[in-house]
Amino acid sequence: MKKKISDYDLKGKKVIIRVDFNVPMKNGIILDENRIKESLKTIQYAILHQAKVILLSHLGRIKEESDLAKNSLKPVATSLENLLETKVIFLPVNVGKQVEETVANLKEGEVLLLENTRYQDLDGKKESNNDPQLSTYWASLGDIFINDAFGTIHRSHASNVGIASHLSNGIGFLVEKELKYLSLLDHPTRPYMVILGGAKVSDKIHVIENLVQQADYLLIGGAMAFTFLRAKNLEVGKSLVEEEWIPFCQEILAKYKDKILLPVDISVSESIESPHYLEKTVEEIKENEIGLDIGIQTIEKMKEILKSAKTVVWNGPLGYYEKEEYQKGTKEILSFLTEHQIPTILGGGDIVAASRTLGYFEKVTHASTGGGATLEYLEGKKLPGLEIIQDKE
Ligand code: 3PG
Repeated sequence: MKKKISDYDLKGKKVIIRVDFNVPMKNGIILDENRIKESLKTIQYAILHQAKVILLSHLGRIKEESDLAKNSLKPVATSLENLLETKVIFLPVNVGKQVEETVANLKEGEVLLLENTRYQDLDGKKESNNDPQLSTYWASLGDIFINDAFGTIHRSHASNVGIASHLSNGIGFLVEKELKYLSLLDHPTRPYMVILGGAKVSDKIHVIENLVQQADYLLIGGAMAFTFLRAKNLEVGKSLVEEEWIPFCQEILAKYKDKILLPVDISVSESIESPHYLEKTVEEIKENEIGLDIGIQTIEKMKEILKSAKTVVWNGPLGYYEKEEYQKGTKEILSFLTEHQIPTILGGGDIVAASRTLGYFEKVTHASTGGGATLEYLEGKKLPGLEIIQDKE
């Protein structure tokens, strides 16, 4: 078992908390504060226990000078201050004299947020390559390191793995919560069903390989279903198909045909922009049509299978939910799972965003804050940001 923030006496200690404030942002406006909200419990705990709190996070990806301003954490500092109802000291830098002096003057219960850790990526990708000098420097600012950035736990960067290798460390409450739910999938209560959607098979090869073996049923929708349907020699018109992954899909279908459900009908249109659509069986799709959602017969078949599920994990929306016309599949299945109180874990950015748009975010058992991190967990990979954290004696 990993050491936790609650295993430490924080009073008067400089506690570096790595959070994941990588929130969607447009023109300096935060579009979704969920990751900030989810980090509050750990920060509030540290404040309450009189730590001197130093927060680190990345935001976006920094490749060139012009990426800096639009990826500043300044708007996050304002949002955090409002949510915490406590002053947050924000510095527009994360190394140097100003940082050292501010840290030295930090009082118990005060919160300091440093600028985006990936600002250091401009200089030889020091953050993302886990530069030893950078991690030693950041570690020198604190006494204890807490990793609460679940969304970044699959990365081996200076601000998580690097700092953790120099300081006494532990996990925060968000990482603890995420692991509590995701670990239910290690020994799931059966029947265990997996719903997979989203655009591409190629993004999910290892997830498919891993989960199809473990699950009792794999229900496939979203655009990725069309590569599977092509693998069965069906005409899918202009729908998204990854030709190079057809042999992979054929292999999976041959090996696990008894536990895979593919769509039997589809909502098709002549273009994504057109509001006109038709529901057709998968045998009826024409050359000029594009599939954008699962059809009603598929929805009913999925419900029939899911009604006995005791554990469900779901990655990727079942249709192009960004447009109202193609929300039906994702919405109906979310509604069915929540109404029947079937334990459901949503993993991956898109299905979580869809659950929010469609009004089910608060109703599901667990909606993970991790995108890539959750996928890597589902692939069965080790997570470096967690591996480095010490075990409880
Ligand atoms: C995420 O949003 O998945 C995490 O914050 C990690 O971001 P990254 O993919 O840019 O490393």
